[in-house]
Amino acid sequence: MGDPLDRRDELERALELAAAEARAYLEGLARDPVQPPGSAALLEEGAGGGVQGRGAPLGGELPQHGDGALTAVTELARLAREAATRSSGPRFFHFVIGGTTPAALAADWLASALDQNAAAWVASPFGTRLEQVAIDWLRQLFRLPPEFGGVLVTGGTMANFTCLAAAREWCAERAGFDAAEEGLAGAPQIPVLTSGYVHASAMKSLALLGIGRAGVHKLSRDARGRLDLPALADRLARLDGGPAIVIANAGEVNAGDFDPIEDMADLAERHGAWLHVDGAFGLFARLSPRTEALTAGAERASSVSSDGHKWLNVPHDCGFAFVREDRWRRGAFSEQADYLPPLDSPRPAFAYYSPEGSRRARALAVWATLRAYGAEGYRAMVERHLDVAGHLVKRIDAEPAFERLAEAPLNIVCFRWRPPGVSEEDRLDDLNRRLGEALLEDGRVFAGTTLFEGRVAFRPAIVNWQTGAEDVDLLVDVLLELGARLLEGEPAPA
Ligand SMILES: Cc1ncc(COP(=O)(O)O)c(C=O)c1O
Repeated sequence: MGDPLDRRDELERALELAAAEARAYLEGLARDPVQPPGSAALLEEGAGGGVQGRGAPLGGELPQHGDGALTAVTELARLAREAATRSSGPRFFHFVIGGTTPAALAADWLASALDQNAAAWVASPFGTRLEQVAIDWLRQLFRLPPEFGGVLVTGGTMANFTCLAAAREWCAERAGFDAAEEGLAGAPQIPVLTSGYVHASAMKSLALLGIGRAGVHKLSRDARGRLDLPALADRLARLDGGPAIVIANAGEVNAGDFDPIEDMADLAERHGAWLHVDGAFGLFARLSPRTEALTAGAERASSVSSDGHKWLNVPHDCGFAFVREDRWRRGAFSEQADYLPPLDSPRPAFAYYSPEGSRRARALAVWATLRAYGAEGYRAMVERHLDVAGHLVKRIDAEPAFERLAEAPLNIVCFRWRPPGVSEEDRLDDLNRRLGEALLEDGRVFAGTTLFEGRVAFRPAIVNWQTGAEDVDLLVDVLLELGARLLEGEPAPA
């Protein structure tokens, strides 16, 4: 089969196939196992991995002569059915992963069909204008002041990267050099001050930006990582007005806790530091009067990041970077070339504000979901999730075999299994680790483990638009069932 043009007549059938498959997949999301049994073997290279029932290898040699779109899409769909992780379903509490609202999903399909390049107005006025509107609607949703501008990126990591790139330019100028132009070689270390809550993606961004992880001071007052505010005040005072980046964490991954953003904003203001707020999922606390106080002060930041594929429930990949001042927003990203639009063009070019050049029109999904459900719809969803988290807290507290390890201020409940009669910490860690593995192996419901104050713990995160109380009930029931089974194989306590 050669040139795709020779088989253009397959298009309609291929799209119909994809739509039918997608419909069946989505319809099964609420009941199918999160990870289909046997999927690992199916995917493993060299272990007979192939499309079940056909024996056709998934990998192997690059096909020299293709079989056409219908065969390829049929095989892909079959494989997806048997091996795709139902992470967009209501029973996936691992990491912090949202699903896709109907409006977002349909719009994302259109984004693929229209295949707009949202790099600049000239490449796609439609994609560019939608991004302007989407960013402004998000800014309003998060109640950030009008001077904030932003850009859509691939996720929370790139949102942190984009914001911290702006912070780097700002710090460099205050120290008397141009980081984008001259690089950081020989430059003074930019101090980064934060709590133990700082997310791995911020550390990764700082490494990528050449600021380096070594310049990060995690000022924790306890094993949990909570901010030592007096230490932050002291560090900033000792810098004597020298440039610094303060990172406030709005929603940390272990228990959904928050740094005291307002206090950090006061200190950043007093000492002239750049305040960045990482609100990958926690920024959504601003949507409900029940939780908005947790993020008080975020509106005073120099930059704020958040995520689309978490609590907004748009498809991967999507994140938002907001920077207060336009000057720093462009920073290192506005690299011009003769064939590209001028930097001072009155028409926007989001490529001049983001790490990417050519860019998927992510704004379609963001615009559509906000148009479909509005701020009120999202407030209602966030509050439903707060209620689900509250319900899980009650279930955990009512079960003698579980021990809750932290308050649940938002949407993450941190707890561990503590079977009656077991008290040794090492044994508890081992049991929880094994229970975590058994849970993923079982596949009916997914939640991950972490280390909370040095103890192995579960930390289910509730962000999926379809999740209800019955889904967290299932999590508790399955953990109890698997725990009992695990203990059956254990020697009786002495
Ligand atoms: C607080 C925080 N920041 C950043 C990220 C990184 O986001 P992403 O995985 O979308 O890059 C996460 C992901 O869970 C997060 O929880």
